[in-house]
Amino acid sequence: LFTAVEMAPRDPILGLNEQFAADSNPNKVNLGVGVYFDDNGKLPLLECVQAAEKAMMEKPSARGYLPIDGIAAYDAAVKSLVFGAESEPVTSGRVATVQGIGGTGGLKIGADFLKRVSPNAKVLISDPSWENHRALFTNAGFTVDTYAYYDAEKRGVNFDGMLASLNAAAAGTIVVLHACCHNPTGYDITAAQWDEVIAVVKAKNLTAFLDMAYQGFGHGIAEDGAVIGKFVAAGLSFFVSTSFSKSFSLYGERVGALSVLCADKEEASRVLSQLKIVIRTNYSNPPIHGGAVVAAVLGNPELRALWEKELGEMRVRIKAMRQKLVDGLKAAGVKQDMSFITTQIGMFSYSGLNKDQMVRLRSEFGVYGTDTGRMCVAALNSKNIDYVCQAIAKVV
Ligand code: LMR
Repeated sequence: LFTAVEMAPRDPILGLNEQFAADSNPNKVNLGVGVYFDDNGKLPLLECVQAAEKAMMEKPSARGYLPIDGIAAYDAAVKSLVFGAESEPVTSGRVATVQGIGGTGGLKIGADFLKRVSPNAKVLISDPSWENHRALFTNAGFTVDTYAYYDAEKRGVNFDGMLASLNAAAAGTIVVLHACCHNPTGYDITAAQWDEVIAVVKAKNLTAFLDMAYQGFGHGIAEDGAVIGKFVAAGLSFFVSTSFSKSFSLYGERVGALSVLCADKEEASRVLSQLKIVIRTNYSNPPIHGGAVVAAVLGNPELRALWEKELGEMRVRIKAMRQKLVDGLKAAGVKQDMSFITTQIGMFSYSGLNKDQMVRLRSEFGVYGTDTGRMCVAALNSKNIDYVCQAIAKVV
């Protein structure tokens, strides 16, 4: 039965974790996957999460099946976070939100639903994009192409190119946009540029799918989510996938969501009914714990404030590491100007290093980033930064 089955390549991001785990280099540093580690190199267990879990343990509850679309309080909390509790889309009931298995799950529910609604549409992702975007939409049955995004020479966004790609797209094309903290480049477009993108999306009748996996890691929770309000104001229907993996440091709980903004409440209930079929036929209904924790934190003013503080500390520490990286590379003898690292935002730095250099970093120094040159600055700390800088200096 399986004689013709070929060996698949390792996942370009998660595959690095396997390689890293098997590496015996005592100085190894994992800057591959997008995971935040604190200054001691530890994965944080947020205090707000611990407090919510403690309260849950004090009142243990049985584990029945969740509704197909997840915990109602969780879905409501996601809607409020993404659109604003008092926003018109939420108060009018025209957002369909379902709990998802991480942000990836939210994307996949949306992709499968879109395949039913717009089977012949093409999907456009940014060039470059999160490695899994292409694979996920391709596996959902779409033809995936790219829109211009990164300008290597300018070290920034090729915005004219991006607009030109979107303008050239056929009506109905699904455009996957990074709401904030572009993965992998770390370069976001400005608020004014978002307005231009939204105008094209509207004029060309494109379908926007916003991937919001890093809300709070750029400029702040509200600031990073501001683009949603712009899409709402434009009167568009669109998709938003949410992830709490990073913002709650709940990676392994796989807690995320998909929200679809519809024309009205009645349409939202029809869309929700279809999303539920997608979920039911894939994994039936989501797990409880992660969603319950996030709902408890977001639904309690004190815990929510604590979460905002803790997320803010992560954001500030990442920014500090960016500056340390720039300074450290200079001190280690790197001649080229690396200050662009501080103009990038979010967890990642697109370092400009090529595949050979990234492979050398791994094999000679145990410093892991993706082949595309992406490094997770959120995994740098005061103990590993000098080593990483010296390693980079030796390969550039
Ligand atoms: C990443 O880009 O490293 C993260 O989003 C983790 C993942 O699932 O790839």
